[in-house]
Amino acid sequence: MGSIIEITKSAPLSGSVRISGAKNSAVAIIPATVLAGGPCVLENVPPLTDVYNQCRILSYLGAKVEWLDATTVSIDTTALRNETPPDRLAGKLRASYYLMGALLGRFGLSRIGLPGGCKIGPRPIDQHLKGFQALGCKCDINDGYVLLEGNGLHSGHVYFDLVSVGATINVMLAAAGVEGTTTIENAAREPEIIDLANFLNKIGVTVKGAGTGTLRITGNRDRGWSEHSIIPDRIEAGTFMIAATATAGDVVVKGVITRHLESVTAKLRETGVTIEEGEDWLRVSGPARGKAVDVKTLPYPGFPTDLQQPLTAYLTRCAGTSVITENIFENRFRYVDELKRMGANIKVEGRTAIVEGVEELRGATVQASDLRASSALIIAGLAARGRTRVRGISYLKRGYHDFIGKLRQLGAEIDLV
Ligand code: UD1
Repeated sequence: MGSIIEITKSAPLSGSVRISGAKNSAVAIIPATVLAGGPCVLENVPPLTDVYNQCRILSYLGAKVEWLDATTVSIDTTALRNETPPDRLAGKLRASYYLMGALLGRFGLSRIGLPGGCKIGPRPIDQHLKGFQALGCKCDINDGYVLLEGNGLHSGHVYFDLVSVGATINVMLAAAGVEGTTTIENAAREPEIIDLANFLNKIGVTVKGAGTGTLRITGNRDRGWSEHSIIPDRIEAGTFMIAATATAGDVVVKGVITRHLESVTAKLRETGVTIEEGEDWLRVSGPARGKAVDVKTLPYPGFPTDLQQPLTAYLTRCAGTSVITENIFENRFRYVDELKRMGANIKVEGRTAIVEGVEELRGATVQASDLRASSALIIAGLAARGRTRVRGISYLKRGYHDFIGKLRQLGAEIDLV
């Protein structure tokens, strides 16, 4: 992919778009195949760089990874070796740290480099380690590596201090390899956690309570192979809903689980958007100019932090004052300066952004600082007068499959330069 995207103010987006599989599910379930210790086939896997890198890590460790088509991958971890993945692979994505839990669950020992990923604030792993320790694991961080020694790993009781998607997944993976029942309290309730639980149940682990704050995981040494289809990506779906809205468009977002998007649907309706819901689709018709709203990001089922940036791009043009509070990642307002270059009126105070809606945004050259900032700036560009150039768009490929192609299909004037 080139390094700059050029966008011209576009007519209202129209038509339909099909949503890919969920990145955050795929990057958790791929390492979970380590626990199957046999062949697994995963369908509806989004073709994204984070997913390919996760697969490359498993290949490096001796798994047989074969893409059967663009979105179906067969992974056989029978001959997996318990080694440290090289930094050139593990450092590329945050989710590489799920190998900690997966290798610990399978081998009782792991050594993994500290994870990479988007720079959206300090992203500590203390809760992951707290969970591993509750299973009897000794944890050390030394020279950029996390060393987990689980001699005599056992089931346990974990109470997380805060709701963490990553820590919940990592401890689920470790507990899946341990006999007895582990309880996780204050667990994350995201749909991707339920998807992982469904996969683990298929390979012979028993996970109860997924989607609630209390998980019970009963490991089983006699685990087997499985076929599994990844759930649709609610963040990609939400991004297209917002893009349709921001251009006063009329778009059908297909292949979604509508209840995963309830917080987004409710918030967009508050701004004046009309949303019709079908069994697995949503039709979004944006108003010429929406109304300002207040938004707080929260763990699921609250409004997702991953859609805070795209939503803010839309709110810059809504009539009135919107107050956006980012409760999950403190550095997730870095893109605001770029929106200001396009004429947005935004003041950031700590974890809050106050957006005074302007009549019009102007095209400008802007720099994306992370994955969701890229989609936010593109959405702003679609609605702005004149031409917008977005630099740093390599992030896009980590989280959106064919974002530009899908937007073009909806009539957007967008090109790689
Ligand atoms: C995951 C998602 C990311 C999403 C985020 C919140 C993946 C690969 N990424 O990230 O897209 O934005 O959930 O929905 O699924 N924290 C600690 N200690 C820990 C762990 C987390 O303090 O040990 C804090 C974090 O700094 C953050 C908050 O908890 O403030 C939530 O983070 P977490 O849910 O863990 O996010 P990720 O799993 O990194």
